[in-house]
Amino acid sequence: MEVGFLGLGIMGKAISMNLLRNGFKVTVWNRTLSKCDELVAHGATVGGSPAEVIKKCTITIGMLADPAAALSVVFDKGGVLEQICPGKGYIDMSTVDHETSIKISRAITSKGGHFLEAPVSGSKQPAETGQLVILSAGEKALYDEAISALNVIGKKAFFLGEVGNGAKMKLVVNMIMGCMMNTFSEGLVLAEKSGLDPRTLLDVLDLGGIANPMFKGKGPPMLQSNYALAFPLKHQQKDMRLALALGDENAVSMPIAAAANEAFKKARSLGLGDNDFSAVFEVVKDLKRSS
Ligand SMILES: NC(=O)c1ccc[n+]([C@@H]2O[C@H](COP(=O)([O-])OP(=O)(O)OC[C@H]3O[C@@H](n4cnc5c(N)ncnc54)[C@H](OP(=O)(O)O)[C@@H]3O)[C@@H](O)[C@H]2O)c1
Repeated sequence: MEVGFLGLGIMGKAISMNLLRNGFKVTVWNRTLSKCDELVAHGATVGGSPAEVIKKCTITIGMLADPAAALSVVFDKGGVLEQICPGKGYIDMSTVDHETSIKISRAITSKGGHFLEAPVSGSKQPAETGQLVILSAGEKALYDEAISALNVIGKKAFFLGEVGNGAKMKLVVNMIMGCMMNTFSEGLVLAEKSGLDPRTLLDVLDLGGIANPMFKGKGPPMLQSNYALAFPLKHQQKDMRLALALGDENAVSMPIAAAANEAFKKARSLGLGDNDFSAVFEVVKDLKRSS
């Protein structure tokens, strides 16, 4: 099966490498074209624009930074819309709000193309090993057509119905994750400031009912101020912002998420946006220092 891939950031590169490893032919495009080189070394071919990739492939996947990037790749000159047509499908895996996803879906289907949104839960390592959780919604026929690729990309693909439901589900998940990361950071600081060994706290957490892979994986490096990049903090803050907007729309009060968003915003203002999202720990440490 030949698959197109637009966007070779942390996630796009890992997913397309995994597709290549599993025998898919992959044609890639990235705004910064030099990022295609490593994929080419592993057998990928390059398209000169999103439109060229769409022209070549029956199914193309996008994995872009944010709503502005996802829209640009579809609507701008040389974009997806120029070549999408009946028989061709576009699957957007970017984390965006439901309005962005619906806008893209309408534009593609108005040209006779097929659309599926499919944001993913899971980070760099699950992307490398095909262990993502896929939150798809949109055209079921495209989901069925792409299922062999989705099964390589993820350990589980959900089909959630109409376009927008995948985007909403992803934002709810990441809103919870962002709150958890802040609470976890506060707990680590509280343990230390009250005379406990935070490494012992990690052991205690890991044996109890709130044990989870995020605390287990991120905790030890955080205690060494090591924020090795897997999920950029700037994207986590974007997800908090979009989740809060979803809360506004539905009149859902989310004071904890709002506070977590402020901490991620503060981290961005300190220049930590390109670090892993666990770097919000630096903000929490700083707040406790100044209180
Ligand atoms: N990293 C994770 O753990 C993770 C997990 C789940 C979901 N996500 C979501 O997946 C998406 C990608 O995340 P990532 O971590 O791979 O991000 P990333 O490393 O920052 O990559 C972003 C990608 O978007 C492209 N891009 C940015 N602005 C663009 C524009 N205006 N036009 C065209 N392309 C543009 C970048 O191209 P350049 O190379 O030219 O900058 C790059 O290919 C985001 O929506 C993120 O929230 C990430």
